[in-house]
Amino acid sequence: MMFPKASVLSRRRAQFLAAVVLMAALCVIAASSRAHSETAAPGWPAIGFDQNQSREQTAGEVYKNVQVLKDLRATELDGVMDFMCAALGVGCTYCHTNPWENDEKSAKLAARRMIVMTRAINSEHFSGNPAVTCYTCHRGQHNSVPNPPPDLAALHSLDDVATPAKPTALPSTDEVLARYIRAIGGEAAIQKIKTRVSRGTETTTNLMTAPQTTPIEIYQTTANKLQIIRSDHGGWTEKGFDGAKGWTKDVREISVPHGDGLKTSVRLLEGQSNESEELKREADFYRYSSLRATYPQMRVLTKEKLGDRDAYVVGATSRDDSREKLYFDAQTGLLIRKYVAFKTAFGTIPDVTDFDDYQDAGGVKLPFTITWSRPPFGSVMKFSEVRLNVFVDDARFVPQVK
Ligand code: HEC
Ligand code: HEC
Repeated sequence: MMFPKASVLSRRRAQFLAAVVLMAALCVIAASSRAHSETAAPGWPAIGFDQNQSREQTAGEVYKNVQVLKDLRATELDGVMDFMCAALGVGCTYCHTNPWENDEKSAKLAARRMIVMTRAINSEHFSGNPAVTCYTCHRGQHNSVPNPPPDLAALHSLDDVATPAKPTALPSTDEVLARYIRAIGGEAAIQKIKTRVSRGTETTTNLMTAPQTTPIEIYQTTANKLQIIRSDHGGWTEKGFDGAKGWTKDVREISVPHGDGLKTSVRLLEGQSNESEELKREADFYRYSSLRATYPQMRVLTKEKLGDRDAYVVGATSRDDSREKLYFDAQTGLLIRKYVAFKTAFGTIPDVTDFDDYQDAGGVKLPFTITWSRPPFGSVMKFSEVRLNVFVDDARFVPQVK
């Protein structure tokens, strides 16, 4: 059992695919058939999208059975699916059976009617503005869950511009940033870092299958080069960024009479795809240490409780105009949360990254636990070691195909 068009989908989707595949106990076969459907040769087209197309393709052109989302840009379909999951508090399999285009489940048919209804409400009553969304009525719940998962109310309140209760009590943006840099070790120590190697485990969740924990290794250099290696059953996957371009690689163990029994497939990411942009951001070596470069605009908004900690909340706009919020621990000065209102064609969903367990990694303090969530997906990375300035071979950052 295999969900097709894997390469159109992002990393989270790929993880979900792996999970579904595992569930079906056909892991190796399915994973290698996915690998097989992608091209290993240079040129590396992504499945589904026609690379020679000068105009952006629509969902109707790329997918098999979209009836009401036909006119959406194909790259926007993923986000819409995430939004519907978040609005109903479900995973993909609430509506889908394999393959994706199947219309077997009544929930999928209901969702299609709901899309039409929601659009009609907005066009008739709100001049076409997306005033009403799935979330307006569903509030993070669907009709078969007695105890609904946490709702998205936090998201909507976070979207409002927070008004500081006592503006005078707040430190300036410069003060918050300076305290943070001091807290992690100071500018000079940061500038001494040339490479970073992190090893640990990653546990992923998707609201459908049991959480999965697998080893992860991350290699980075100041030239914004990145390689992430994730081991899984029957092989491993790699993601890389060579400073300019992103790529993915999938290696599967197969039983063959000759050769090394590995099937490798490599894919070069399209420059403007979501996946490539995400990898580029991840590869930015100074992303969290040169915040002024990452976010040209920043402003302290308020002080808020985050669990049992007080945090200064800084509104930050990135170079690519992503509106984010950075939470700095008022006591330690450390960056403890990044909040992004992730935009989809249906509305925004919360994308939250928490940084915990800061430890000295040789002159600089780094978070050894990083927790990420964007419904329906989530992950926790726990590093057992983070080493700075060890030798890292540049060959890692270009995809090696034997
Ligand atoms: C609430 C129901 C619902 C959920 C949850 C949902 N989908 Fe969908 N999905 C739909 C509907 C409805 C369509 C068809 C839309 C249309 O007809 O225009 C669709 C279409 C698709 C398609 C296009 C298939 C094709 O070729 O026709 C893909 C791929 C897809 N969904 C992936 C996902 C993924 C991945 C998730 C989880 C992140 C997900 N969906 C969650 C309702 C859902
Ligand atoms: C105006 C309110 C409203 C909006 C907006 C709305 N829904 Fe619904 N939806 C309902 C109600 C009410 C029901 C229950 C109908 C019933 O029980 O017969 C329902 C039922 C459903 C169901 C089937 C029952 C279930 O919970 O599985 C799905 C799936 C669904 N909606 C998905 C969506 C999606 C996806 C969107 C956004 C595109 C959406 N809805 C927007 C009110 C709404």
